[in-house]
Amino acid sequence: MNDEIFAIAQLISNVVDEKKRGKNVLNSYLEKNNSFKEFVTDIFYGSIRHYIYLEATLFKFVKKEGVSKKEKYIFIATLYVILFRKESDIPIFINDIIRGVKKRLGDRKGNFFNAVLRSILRSRDDLDSFSDDIKYSIPEKFYHYLRKNRLLHVISKMVETPKFYFRVNKNFDKSLVDFSKFRKVSDYIYRLNDNGGIKDISPFLDGKNIVIQDISAQLACHILDPKKGERILDFCAAPGTKTTLLSELSDNSSEIIAVDINQSKVDKMKTELSNYYKNISFVVSDALDFETDTIFDKILVDAPCSALGTVSKYPEKKYDFNESEISKYGNIQLKILEKALSILKIGGEILYCVCTFTPQESDMVVKNFLKRNQNIELKEFSISEKLLTDELSTIYSDKIFTTLHTESIFDGDIFFIAKFIKK
Ligand SMILES: C[S@@+](CC[C@H](N)C(=O)[O-])C[C@H]1O[C@@H](n2cnc3c(N)ncnc32)[C@H](O)[C@@H]1O
Repeated sequence: MNDEIFAIAQLISNVVDEKKRGKNVLNSYLEKNNSFKEFVTDIFYGSIRHYIYLEATLFKFVKKEGVSKKEKYIFIATLYVILFRKESDIPIFINDIIRGVKKRLGDRKGNFFNAVLRSILRSRDDLDSFSDDIKYSIPEKFYHYLRKNRLLHVISKMVETPKFYFRVNKNFDKSLVDFSKFRKVSDYIYRLNDNGGIKDISPFLDGKNIVIQDISAQLACHILDPKKGERILDFCAAPGTKTTLLSELSDNSSEIIAVDINQSKVDKMKTELSNYYKNISFVVSDALDFETDTIFDKILVDAPCSALGTVSKYPEKKYDFNESEISKYGNIQLKILEKALSILKIGGEILYCVCTFTPQESDMVVKNFLKRNQNIELKEFSISEKLLTDELSTIYSDKIFTTLHTESIFDGDIFFIAKFIKK
């Protein structure tokens, strides 16, 4: 295992020092190195997720100036295994790491790693507790922002192992996969197992058969409730996972225009989806400059946002937190909503959603949108039965929402959802 731990230490450095995206560095490593895929993925993301806590723990046992960056990242990945993975053979794992350190960095460093790791292992059950910002690995300015905005209820999400949901399109031959392996939400929605399961569905992840898609993201499309024959605009569409669900929900019989500002993302959507989804047209445009001669029945505004509701999947996001970006996103969202309103028919609906929880990108946008436009109002909605497991349906099937922050209901990404109707 020590080869993998050294490789993970390098990947951690790519994220922490070079600010590269975790998903990109991990994928390019896994393309070339196929062994222990799940182990490497868990330790890499776990180390990033708990980075501040692991570093603080390490510095209780060694002086900061006593370790180089490279050594620190080897320690961090190793400590994640010692403190968070439920392995029975930790002493064997540590021996392996020490051997690797001796081989690569010399005997003296090997002995140093040995002493530090063994003393952390001895005291791992009674390590001093840290304050919440360190415990949940939240940088100081982000923690301060969460406290100031009364958002501390989301901090446990900051270190949560993500849950992945997938949906199965209606035309897929379900005998090709043993779905009993997965937690079932409905006949067409499942949750991946915490310890994998992706291999069983990966041959079918082509956008047309099975789609990995968060449960809250799916909810947004169900609430817009696309119907046969409707003209629907998906205003921020790439990579198109909501576009195709909107199509599926209308039996591929609605007319959908998928707009995105990013040329290469639109090209990719077009290549992957246009042969199958004949009812979808793909357009490259800034939503604000979008030109059309007709008006729409329904518009999805899945707006650009800080995406902080996806931190469990992309843990490096919490280290890049930038408060000034949040209000910029809020302003863009409001502008896109107002553009959508201008091309919506009377009685038509806008579904506004963002995968974040900041008030500046959710409730405040709704408040300003309503204040500035007298011809629109919020439309109440409920959660489709199809998205609720048995235990959730006893609580939520009759509940009516005006707006919704999904962390109170689902264990996936945190979304904010609101629906408007034009008067
Ligand atoms: C949250 S993602 C959309 C995800 C997509 N709806 C899905 O479910 O697969 C936001 C998208 O908005 C696009 N975007 C950002 N600013 C935009 C703008 N001004 N006009 C149109 N699209 C924009 C980005 O390129 C990005 O693809």
